Amino acid sequence: MSSEPTSFSAPKGTYDLLPPDSVRWQGAVRLAMDLFAAAGYAPVDTPIFESTGVFERGVGETSEVVGKQMYTFTDQGGRSMTLRPEGTAPVMRAVLEHNVHRGPLPVKLGYAGPMFRQERPQKGRYRQFFQVGAEVIGAAAPVADAEIIELAVRYIAALGVEASLLLNSIGHPGGNCRGAYQEGLATFLRDNADRLAPADRGRADTNPMRAFDSKEDATVLVMKEAPTIDAWLCAECAAHFAEVRALLDAAGVAYEIEPRLVRGLDYYTRTAFEFVAGGLGSQNAVGGGGRYDGLAESLGGPSLPGIGFALGMERLMLAASAGLPASVGIDAYVVGVGAGSGAGAFALTLRLRRAGIGAELDLAGRGIKGQMKDASRSGARWAIILGDEEVHGGYVTLKDLASGTQERVPADEIERRLA
Ligand code: HAM
Repeated sequence: MSSEPTSFSAPKGTYDLLPPDSVRWQGAVRLAMDLFAAAGYAPVDTPIFESTGVFERGVGETSEVVGKQMYTFTDQGGRSMTLRPEGTAPVMRAVLEHNVHRGPLPVKLGYAGPMFRQERPQKGRYRQFFQVGAEVIGAAAPVADAEIIELAVRYIAALGVEASLLLNSIGHPGGNCRGAYQEGLATFLRDNADRLAPADRGRADTNPMRAFDSKEDATVLVMKEAPTIDAWLCAECAAHFAEVRALLDAAGVAYEIEPRLVRGLDYYTRTAFEFVAGGLGSQNAVGGGGRYDGLAESLGGPSLPGIGFALGMERLMLAASAGLPASVGIDAYVVGVGAGSGAGAFALTLRLRRAGIGAELDLAGRGIKGQMKDASRSGARWAIILGDEEVHGGYVTLKDLASGTQERVPADEIERRLA
């Protein structure tokens, strides 16, 4: 006897997206890409897997994402490959590989696609999840930070999600800025080692700032007393941050300064931000982003500043209250009976579709009652009835499914009537 399962379910931490959720979802993705396009962001798509080094060098080996969560495999050529856990390092890899940065700068790109992290699944946390994001590559000025943040804020609001924007600057790695701060923080962590949760005692030597992200109660308590980066920023990073805040103020974008916000990926420099929404439990970050002025160099490219964000679609959809359409948006349902059934109804449906009118017809051989029921289910505004009388009289019966009223329309005028 084979021990093979006889039925299957989606892998742990993944999900199937079916109508009507899939329809709402696609509406939300389309809205993102439309908003991005209206701000000059062209779409970009990169492979779902990359050489593992893209993430090791780009995202950083001390991050949880690279250290613990990657789906890494060896391909048949013996190369180490990884399902992308995030989109920024791949987008930068693509820009550098194709020399896009040698053309006009900045390069403004938007994307939507699945990402993969081997995390413990829970509400709002999946192993395959979906991000929409935008990146500005080759712009160092604070106005790029403000543009990116405002774009994310506007999209989140358009979905009817109430989220707060947490904002920080984590400076640059130099010894007069984050470097010095990290030393100060490491000293604090060593001085308080006995009060930290055992799992966090090594942070002083690996990545001290990540201690702010610890979920361990003991560590959270200690970190309330820890020095924060705001007092350690160099003059340039402090001025950059002040300008970003002034631009957001002028744009009417509300934010909270959170000097303990460190973000989980190693590439960030200067501006870092996160969006948190209520009602989602512990997985309340609907998105985040920041500046990554050192990423291009860590991938072997030139010095090339950048900033961007990514939003988690699952969490956004859990929190969304906007009335996203839940049906695919059919305008008309063609009801074919008698002489009008079969080829007649099919031809009329195709005529409508070719004129850009969303149309469906019965594919199951139903009678008129069944077709009228199916027409209501389809969400169509109109039923167009094509029966014996209609075919012989050269007209169709147009029924408004909302009001129930109906009228005769000459068969060759129906497209114009519905346009
Ligand atoms: P991130 O903060 O790692 O940033 O992810 C962004 C968002 O993706 C999170 O706030 C969350 O909503 C969603 N997300 C992350 N992991 C999961 C998961 N396991 N299940 C469900 N949703 C999840 C980045 O990925 C950066 N690439 C953002 C960025 C773009 N920074 C600059 N440019």
